[in-house]
Amino acid sequence: MEETEHIKEAFTELAPSYVKAMNKELSQFWGISYPNFIEQLVWKAEVKKGDKVLDIATGTAMIPLKIVSDNHYQDQIVGLDITPAMLRQGRKEIAGKRSDQAIDLVCASAMDMPFAEGTFNVIICCLGTHHMNVPKMLSEAKRMLAKGGRVIISDVGATPFWRCTAGKILLRLLMLEYGFVNRSARSQAEIEAFQNVRTAQEWLELLVDFGFSKVHIEEIKPRLPWFPSGLTLQAVIAD
Ligand SMILES: C[S@@+](CC[C@H](N)C(=O)[O-])C[C@H]1O[C@@H](n2cnc3c(N)ncnc32)[C@H](O)[C@@H]1O
Repeated sequence: MEETEHIKEAFTELAPSYVKAMNKELSQFWGISYPNFIEQLVWKAEVKKGDKVLDIATGTAMIPLKIVSDNHYQDQIVGLDITPAMLRQGRKEIAGKRSDQAIDLVCASAMDMPFAEGTFNVIICCLGTHHMNVPKMLSEAKRMLAKGGRVIISDVGATPFWRCTAGKILLRLLMLEYGFVNRSARSQAEIEAFQNVRTAQEWLELLVDFGFSKVHIEEIKPRLPWFPSGLTLQAVIAD
């Protein structure tokens, strides 16, 4: 089976109830609603008039929609995702709104994105990196960023508890239980994604290795020690 098949299957199942599911999970992990989380991320992204923006793993296009509605954004914003069903749901959300013309949704993998070098000033990726080969995605992001361009990445993060022996054992057991109780493509995709979840320090090292500077990391503490933290990373590609 192709590496991304479980992901596509999982998000095809989830697409119609995506917002409801995210609301439940983010409230459980961090005590924040999904719309609030998106609102805060867009606020942090500080998209300015004239910025060319790409939203990687855009899902149902909530981030492009929020940017367009907040900023009276003039340019086209691109949302990219690997799951056609998520993009179809996104197109339904966009249809008939002022944003209709402003948002371009593209179906492709973040490992191989169909855009030329230096196309974007701002690249966003929210709640998607744990499903990806992150070094591959970062090397693509770096290629597509214009000089001085920025990345804003928000996702689940590992805490120091996840890296201690007791934490590792407990998480393995919880994963086994999660997979056993929830026999779905989503649980399979999340179990496979577990290995891609990084601590703030691991992200910092990776971003620096890739030539990003001015790395700024914010962390939302999880409500229970074995839950993931919420990481928002911002970095600039050196000129
Ligand atoms: C949890 S959703 C996040 C959606 C959106 N960013 C948001 O914050 O609501 C994760 C999304 O990542 C997408 N995804 C996972 N792996 C991907 C890849 N390799 N390339 C592009 N999209 C991917 C999935 O299809 C899914 O829509």
